[in-house]
Amino acid sequence: MKECINSPLTVCRLPLSPFSIFHFPFYTDFMAYLQPDKPEKVYVPALRAAKERNEKLVCLTAYDYPTARIVDEAGVEIILVGDSMGNVIHGYGNTIPVTLDEILSAVKAVKRGSNRALIVADMPYGSYHTGENTAVRNALTLMKDGGAEAVKLEGGRNRVELVKRLVDEEIPVMAHIGLTPQSVHKLGGYSVQGKTADAAARLIEDAKMLEEAGAFAVVLELVPREIAEIITKNLKISTVGIGAGASCDIQVLVLHDLIGMSFGRLPRFVRQYANLREVMTEAVTNWMEDVKSGNYPEKSESYGLPKDVNIEEAKSTAS
Ligand code: KIV
Repeated sequence: MKECINSPLTVCRLPLSPFSIFHFPFYTDFMAYLQPDKPEKVYVPALRAAKERNEKLVCLTAYDYPTARIVDEAGVEIILVGDSMGNVIHGYGNTIPVTLDEILSAVKAVKRGSNRALIVADMPYGSYHTGENTAVRNALTLMKDGGAEAVKLEGGRNRVELVKRLVDEEIPVMAHIGLTPQSVHKLGGYSVQGKTADAAARLIEDAKMLEEAGAFAVVLELVPREIAEIITKNLKISTVGIGAGASCDIQVLVLHDLIGMSFGRLPRFVRQYANLREVMTEAVTNWMEDVKSGNYPEKSESYGLPKDVNIEEAKSTAS
């Protein structure tokens, strides 16, 4: 950014391809805040442009530097620093205990690990429930201190005023309806939502209201695919589906489920593409065996004294 602002000769332009989701001809001459070293950086408007072109995007969770780097370099468009970290990396059993500090620390690491993806920070339970001003302050902390580029929060019509306020304060908001894990105690578990005609109509209305409030996307979690399709077709903003069928504009999964690093039964919508738990267990077991059998470390895996140091002196010091 500095380079662009400080140099009167620098004109910041996106290297644009007519096929790219970043093709905004009307922006090219004045998006001076875009960093020239991140030509493919995904910003919020790219999502709507992709939807208009019928182009599917992907979102994965990440909570640390290495996984952020891997998914960013693989090319996912959105990284969600989700409060699923409560289950996945903290072992809490649900998302309720996750704190703003835990999300903040993860967002900072993810930001350092990613160059291209849009970084969305989840607002944890309790961080947006005690008044709009507190919610704005917490969202700003995630953006200013953490480097998040948008926040996500759970809820439908009950969050409309808050979404408007956050958007008014220049905070892009991803909404989240259907199964909202922060309501686990109210819902009594994690089951598919919107299964009756009334519940489905309510979901469709909620999605519309959140769009009108200014959300740039809405997560549909564990929603019948027919309802997700109706919502997707009727919204201009993107739907981000998890267990909501193929018609959603964007698919999101918890990375640890996809790579086989989670414990317990996987929900039916998870397709596991690798089994890193097995890979890690094998690596750790092999190393343990090598240590115990004297196979590790080998000479080449350690350091010798420089030739000019007298080993006898060291020995005599020891005795
Ligand atoms: O926290 C999370 O990872 C999420 C996704 C499952 C959408 O909310």
